Amino acid sequence: MGVPLFDTSTPLHPLRDELRAAVARVLDSERYILGPEVEAFESEFADHCGADHAVGVANGTEAITIALRAMGVGPGDEVVVPSFTFYASAEAIPPTGATPVFCDIDPETYCITADTVRAALTPRTRAVMAVHLFGNMAPVAEIEALGVPVLEDAAQAAGSLAGEARAGALGSAATFSFFPSKNLGCFGDGGMITTSDEAIAERARTLRFHGSRDKVSYQQLGYNSRLDELQAAILRVQLPHLDRWAQGRREAALHYEHAGLGELVALPRPTDGASPAWHLYVVGHPQVDRLEAALSAADIGYKAYYRTPVHLQEPMRAWGAGAELPATERAAARHLAIPMSPVLTREQVAEVAAAARAAA
Ligand SMILES: Cc1ncc(COP(=O)(O)O)c(C=O)c1O
Repeated sequence: MGVPLFDTSTPLHPLRDELRAAVARVLDSERYILGPEVEAFESEFADHCGADHAVGVANGTEAITIALRAMGVGPGDEVVVPSFTFYASAEAIPPTGATPVFCDIDPETYCITADTVRAALTPRTRAVMAVHLFGNMAPVAEIEALGVPVLEDAAQAAGSLAGEARAGALGSAATFSFFPSKNLGCFGDGGMITTSDEAIAERARTLRFHGSRDKVSYQQLGYNSRLDELQAAILRVQLPHLDRWAQGRREAALHYEHAGLGELVALPRPTDGASPAWHLYVVGHPQVDRLEAALSAADIGYKAYYRTPVHLQEPMRAWGAGAELPATERAAARHLAIPMSPVLTREQVAEVAAAARAAA
């Protein structure tokens, strides 16, 4: 029958009337930028994460640049970042004036660790970007114990937990993307910064608004980077369902385990104490071409997201050249995302496992 790589439409189907009503509400209000929907969603999202403040911005990439600047990162500073991540995690650093310094990952969790970060620290390190990759949780407290501030890149981790705490409430600040395919997605681009540091929140609020409080006087060079009212209204309809969807993702991962997939491929390992809302379910295989061919033959969706790690991408060469990241290069060569969604069924998982068996 085939299984798609992800399914964003089935979970939204029962919400269609509410979503239409939310869009109509914004149309009727004739407020489109920084109005009551954004304000309400910021407050609801901050509560959900367990952070004191949330600042809506235009996308997850600008969320990182703005959050880093709000944390005081600037020219001459270094920011430690994994290379096995979406390109934007590193791309967002140079616009602050700082430079990315690439660190390695744990081969089983795909996240950075205190040890891989320690190897990249220098006297110029001003922050570490802990990417909660694929929805797994980077060990923020262990990294902070090295004495450096942490920005969580939680673009892929809405709904994920580390113990009782949620992504977005662990570091000095955290950033989210609401790109439509994310765990919590809007109908365009959108992003968020969360923090419990009042001063960081205030600077981020100003930076997203041209470096101004009132658009009359300007304190610093900023950005035009706002979450808009329509997207905020759409996200408000979905937020109450995020935890249920996250649970669906966890159950799908359990189905994979129970289907014996771990005998055929390397399954992703949650970091200690984490309960990931798997955004992508990424497995490892020594002959990944064979796995791709077997899935393809069975009409199963798959994708190699980061076959070339970020430090080897052309625009990053100035900072990535010479970096020795063996776990990153191995993960880049062997990883493959297989179907994952909040509504992935046991039967679909069995179909994926049967196809993977053909590559064993
Ligand atoms: C890990 C990570 N960081 C940052 C981003 C950037 O988010 P956006 O696409 O909203 O700019 C993404 C989204 O794709 C991501 O996956």
